[in-house]
Amino acid sequence: MSAEQDTAQGAEQTFPPSKEFVENARYGQEFVDSGRDPETFWADAARSVVTWDKEFTQTLDFSDAPFARWFADGTLNAAYNALDRHVEAGNGDRVAIHFEGEPGDSRSYTYADLTREVKKAANAFAELGVEKGDRVAVYLPMIPEAVITMLACARLGAAHSVVFGGFSPDAFRQRVDDAEAKLVVTADGSYRRGQATRLKPTVDKALEKPRHTVKNVVVVKRNGEDVPFNPDLDLWWHETVDKASEEHTAEAFEAENPLFILYTSGTTGKPKGILHTTGGYLVQGAQTFQATFDLKPETDVFWCTADIGWVTGHTYVAYAPLVSGATQVMYEGTPDTPHKGRFWEIVQKYKVTTLYTAPTAIRTFMKWGEEIPAEYDLSSLRLLGSVGESINPEAWLWYHRVIGAGRCPIVDTWWQTETGSQMLTPLPGVNALKPGSAQQPFPGIELDVVDEMGESLPNGQSGFLVVRKPWPSMLRGIWGDPERYKNTYWSRFENMYFAGDGAKRDDDGDIWLLGRVDDVMNVSGHRLSSTEIESALVGHPYVAEAAVIGAKDETTGEAVVAFVMLQDEGEEAVKNGEDVQAVLRAHVGQEIGPIAKPRNVLVAPELPKTRSGKIMRRLLKDVAEGREVGDTMTLADPSVMQQIAADMRDKQK
Ligand code: PRX
Repeated sequence: MSAEQDTAQGAEQTFPPSKEFVENARYGQEFVDSGRDPETFWADAARSVVTWDKEFTQTLDFSDAPFARWFADGTLNAAYNALDRHVEAGNGDRVAIHFEGEPGDSRSYTYADLTREVKKAANAFAELGVEKGDRVAVYLPMIPEAVITMLACARLGAAHSVVFGGFSPDAFRQRVDDAEAKLVVTADGSYRRGQATRLKPTVDKALEKPRHTVKNVVVVKRNGEDVPFNPDLDLWWHETVDKASEEHTAEAFEAENPLFILYTSGTTGKPKGILHTTGGYLVQGAQTFQATFDLKPETDVFWCTADIGWVTGHTYVAYAPLVSGATQVMYEGTPDTPHKGRFWEIVQKYKVTTLYTAPTAIRTFMKWGEEIPAEYDLSSLRLLGSVGESINPEAWLWYHRVIGAGRCPIVDTWWQTETGSQMLTPLPGVNALKPGSAQQPFPGIELDVVDEMGESLPNGQSGFLVVRKPWPSMLRGIWGDPERYKNTYWSRFENMYFAGDGAKRDDDGDIWLLGRVDDVMNVSGHRLSSTEIESALVGHPYVAEAAVIGAKDETTGEAVVAFVMLQDEGEEAVKNGEDVQAVLRAHVGQEIGPIAKPRNVLVAPELPKTRSGKIMRRLLKDVAEGREVGDTMTLADPSVMQQIAADMRDKQK
């Protein structure tokens, strides 16, 4: 089904909040109305959701646009806000994290426990020379030590750069070098699909080549896998952190002190180090968390299923829930290990009230069948969330009926690594929900849909999603590359942030996302760059040229499909019966990581190009999605496309 048809179908049915939900909701229409004056709205939020060491006097400074500074003369400590202040307020016994390991081991940390662990880690890292202004690379599985590490860095004023555990040694090294990380924190391994996996060898391989900036590697023992240990560099977590002092006073840093760098894919090959700073990020993260999820910190149990390696795991696992004093669940493994009811077993075990997951997961659960969740008691759930890509109405309706028993509102939240926190979402006590639409800007956020010229479009017309005013958790730049920041986000339209997404408003003014308008793909809610995968492919001796596109996929949203033209060496390999597709898939896995492996690699005699030499990806997308190939008039050689389409049909027979 096309996005347009989804849109039409989804708009037919709306789901107003129940009377009971509205009566008990923490945030109502008044809150929405107060967003009409963004600066006052965010200044109020800043005073209510975080504790400042020194109060700010100026809310926003945009004099050096597009570089924004929020609450700039205020000072605060992020870890103090996430931890100590809750203990000081008498909530030290409240559970902060219920950790569930994939093999079934579990640990719960109260706010007092977590505060103690973070103080120890901060002391240990400080002992290793980490101080304000430094960068720490984190390559950890979904275990509490990941959050402890992030908060320990924040406590010291050092920025963390978390790299998703699925990235390759080269991708990890590239990120370590770009950020000039002083310390790496990793683990021996983790558990994935019932197997003990190893993580540390990736770090070792990455640091094998000389001239890196890393002084030490701290290694958490998670699964006892036998991993090499380099005495010059490596230290065990249990020998350094566990032995460190439990006394540590958090120093306040300026609001604009860097909090973290998180690399994400852009339209060019090189990943961008998205920089976030402290004050504004915490304010919008915590404010959106509390309002979108109608947080009741004393009774709610929140579970965000995102990995810590992505922005969702940063904002809605490591920071916002803790800053808000919430109780949350953290799960290490996959939804089908040891059985396909694992998520629902966890919901039942911890009495999860609020579940935040991705459409790709929901579509997978749909495929597995509703009898699986039916075996568990899901009556604790009261609110559901979706993030990462548009949720098709069919998946929305299933999530609502099967998981939410028709009772739980669903908040479909649109945002990006760059926006730092949610920007577009219904509020569960305010909006009548529309399956498939992220609906309304969060209060205090000014979004618009514009045409090619940057003119605001009326309802019903598709265009580009832009943000018209700076927002507190916006990226502060691309690490080490201010020009790229300006060019990527602020040059397409004058004085507007260009998100890279297509969108349109319906007759009620609700916003529907229509997918990326650039060469960024969204596979299972993960962002991948076509160009980056193309570069990896042409780096292989078999490949002369490559074109990569995102083709619609029922489960993962989009799937990576690569078209390659071979070099002589590649042709030879085919003749010798080598499985070139498998070789190239593995190569991409090695270069970037398993998440970037193409679903299909199709060998083509030539790639379709315009007379000026530009590859026509649109036509390749038609082929990959099984459609009639569109207009080939502008191609230098239209027969190329006929050949590719015929080959593709043969393959599918
Ligand atoms: O295309 C949009 C899509 O994911 C992109 C951002 O990806 P990333 O930086 O990895 O962050 C993902 C998690 C916040 C966006 O440009 N996207 C994210 N959420 C939605 C979405 N598309 C439609 N609806 C959403 N709710």
